[in-house]
Amino acid sequence: MSDTVPRRSALRLVSVAIAVAAAATVGGFTPARAAGRDKGAGPRVEALLAALTLDEKISLLHGAPDPASLGQAGYVPGVPRLGIPPLRLADGPAGVRVTLPHARTDSRGGTPVATALPAPVLLASAFDPELARRYGQVIGREGRALGQDVLLSPMVNLIRTPYAGRNFETFSEDPLLSCDLVAAEIEGIQGEGLVATVKHYALNNQEKDRDSVDVRVDERTLHEVELRGFEAAVAAGTGAVMGAYNKVGGTFACENEELLSDILRDRWGFDGWVMTDWFAAHSTVRALTAGLDMEMPDGRHFGAALKSAVRGGSVPERYVDRAVRRLLSVLDRFGLLDSERPPRPDRDPEAGAALAREVAEAGATLLRNEHGTLPLTDGDIAVIGPTGATPFVSGGGSAHVVPDHAASPLDALRARAGQGTRVTYALGEDLFGKPVPAGALAPALATEGQGVDAGTTWSYDGTLTLDEPDEWTFVLHCSGPPNGRPKVLVDGEELFPLASGWGEYLLGGLVTTAPDGLAVRRRTLALDAGAHRLRITAEGGADGLLFRLRRITGATRAADLAEAVTAARAARHVVLFAYEDASEGLDRTTIALPGGQARLVEAVTAANPRTTVVLNTSSATAMPWLERTGAVLQMYYPGQEGAAATAAVLFGDRDPGGRLTQTFPADDDSHPVAGDPRRYPGVDGVEEYAEGVRIGHRWYDAQDVRPLFPFGHGLSYTSFSCADLSVRRARGGLAVSFTVHNTGERDGVAVPQVYLGPSPDLALDQPVRVLAGYRRLALRAGERRRVTVRVAARTLCSWDTGRHDWILGTGRRTVWLGASSRDLPLSTSVEVRTTIGASGTSH
Ligand code: BGC
Repeated sequence: MSDTVPRRSALRLVSVAIAVAAAATVGGFTPARAAGRDKGAGPRVEALLAALTLDEKISLLHGAPDPASLGQAGYVPGVPRLGIPPLRLADGPAGVRVTLPHARTDSRGGTPVATALPAPVLLASAFDPELARRYGQVIGREGRALGQDVLLSPMVNLIRTPYAGRNFETFSEDPLLSCDLVAAEIEGIQGEGLVATVKHYALNNQEKDRDSVDVRVDERTLHEVELRGFEAAVAAGTGAVMGAYNKVGGTFACENEELLSDILRDRWGFDGWVMTDWFAAHSTVRALTAGLDMEMPDGRHFGAALKSAVRGGSVPERYVDRAVRRLLSVLDRFGLLDSERPPRPDRDPEAGAALAREVAEAGATLLRNEHGTLPLTDGDIAVIGPTGATPFVSGGGSAHVVPDHAASPLDALRARAGQGTRVTYALGEDLFGKPVPAGALAPALATEGQGVDAGTTWSYDGTLTLDEPDEWTFVLHCSGPPNGRPKVLVDGEELFPLASGWGEYLLGGLVTTAPDGLAVRRRTLALDAGAHRLRITAEGGADGLLFRLRRITGATRAADLAEAVTAARAARHVVLFAYEDASEGLDRTTIALPGGQARLVEAVTAANPRTTVVLNTSSATAMPWLERTGAVLQMYYPGQEGAAATAAVLFGDRDPGGRLTQTFPADDDSHPVAGDPRRYPGVDGVEEYAEGVRIGHRWYDAQDVRPLFPFGHGLSYTSFSCADLSVRRARGGLAVSFTVHNTGERDGVAVPQVYLGPSPDLALDQPVRVLAGYRRLALRAGERRRVTVRVAARTLCSWDTGRHDWILGTGRRTVWLGASSRDLPLSTSVEVRTTIGASGTSH
């Protein structure tokens, strides 16, 4: 199918970048600007525009309820009389999220009909744009098969703070890596005929106050850092762009003319359409004038209000035409206006599952491996931790994809270990609670599996008696929607009131859903010894209700910990699964593991130092317990095949091929936004990106702060060395060549990385070094390979705020080569000249 969809070639990106640098060589240049704002479209689109009534045009510019929903996030009706089809828009980014009512549901109403791929951060860890393209292809095919036309993905906002709730949904803290991956993924998605939507444009780098925070960023940082990925997405031909919730420089992103018109259209030549994030429109005339094309998911501002604005003359109709033209041009490009529309393929769940597994293995990042802890050898294994037995597939929020199936790590390890190896299990940390002891309640109450018939009301009024003061976590498991859950009052206080706004829907993917699919809510109270009044009222509603009330107490916590320690002692190896359940809509407040998990790791590693901690976390984690462990394997949210992939890496069937795409700080006080609320989360609604162009690893280098694990870090089961570094001029940029040698006795994956130092000729405060290129390489034991990594002309440039354009960073520049941003044993330097002439000398 890929051949049938006209795409803008990736070559275009290359040639533009070179043209920019080449122009810079002659000094004072003005790069060709596309006349993006009011570009004409093809004859078919112009004819349609002439035939559409104002009402019809407006109906194409906002979302509406879907009369035949396929479970997707958004819908835009078509105009049947003119052959304009309706559009269905489904979420990503880790697969296609479609949620059908009346089927098994997750916390956000998901149903198991799609392939849950590993989180994008795990994909990114493979440092492999070709893999990103294939990830996109799986999504593209599946989206088309599931009746969708537009995918609300990929997300390319950079990882700026370790607290941001959506770090798992995006790629990296590094602009270059993000550019490569977003472009390849979009080409993969769109090659299958599904329109991609790069999101969230721009500077939506946190969830805290995301609807209102006003991001202040200087022009150079904007262009050199966050916008790079969006620009690459446009160059790769993305059909749509989704505007962010936040403000940028005082104006909401979805009505920000500088972003939507000056940069996106005039500078980058984007000719697709821009939609809002969900409910992110704030105005009609202002937004349309600024360059917004479509309001989602409804028409509060772009429906009747837009018609009145046009009729009343406060906005010219040509602005409506402009938005419709942009939309129709994309539909035209994808063949969606043809009388015979592109056929929809069948799903290919096997291919999806195979790719899901390949990505999870390729991104698996081994952070530590001492005393030959991994790969696992003979001997019994104790699996510990709640996510050892409950597969942690996806993060929460709109990215949550419920898969066809997912095995637990415990089952996968048992299957891989085979008959001769005993694999035991201990919970260690309780997520879902234990039954309330019968004797604690008077009158007696069956708190497990209480059923309430449809149309009836059930209530309980009694006492809960404690022998001693205790910290009780009440855990409610309940069927049905959040507004139908029982009211539980302890001493008159309601434990699980309905959260306001999006609060009930934007929750974690793991801890809010019990293994049998019931929604889970928790509440912890410090209770005195003695009797406490417990009242519960439950309505059966239309469908009846099933609920359980459980508890986690001091005694159950101690018993779970003791059981884990016993299991750890009895086994030769321990694999401890630790989790952190992130979601859109909320940020973390610490990078420590949640709950009692740090204590669990301490206790288990004290009992058995041959402990591997597997992290199913969203982003960076502090590891005060690191030195006690044998190994640490970072798996993020590994998708539906995550368990088998984890087992394959633990046993050494696959080399851990991933490298960190974000720096892991040592603690909450040692990262780029630590200790300054103006940087994060903002003060009085304003947030300053005061770190400037020093995002991620660049900040650690500039401040000389030692991270826990640097950007690019990741161990292999074999060892590599690099030699013979040389640099030459090539295609407006550089060609960096070197030889990689697998010096160990196993086959394995190396990811050599090239970094570039500042230009002595630019009077700018530049990073100590930036990532300039990388290469993922599978090498057999003993194999040597000569490799050339291209450094794009753009990477040699900085943003000149005087000329509002890129400027080539001339002069002698250092080029480093190594295995992470902090492990750079080889370096050379190269003279970058205005003619782009460059000659390298090693030293
Ligand atoms: C998210 C978007 C998502 C949209 C539709 C919003 O809450 O920010 O990323 O595409 O919902 O579900």
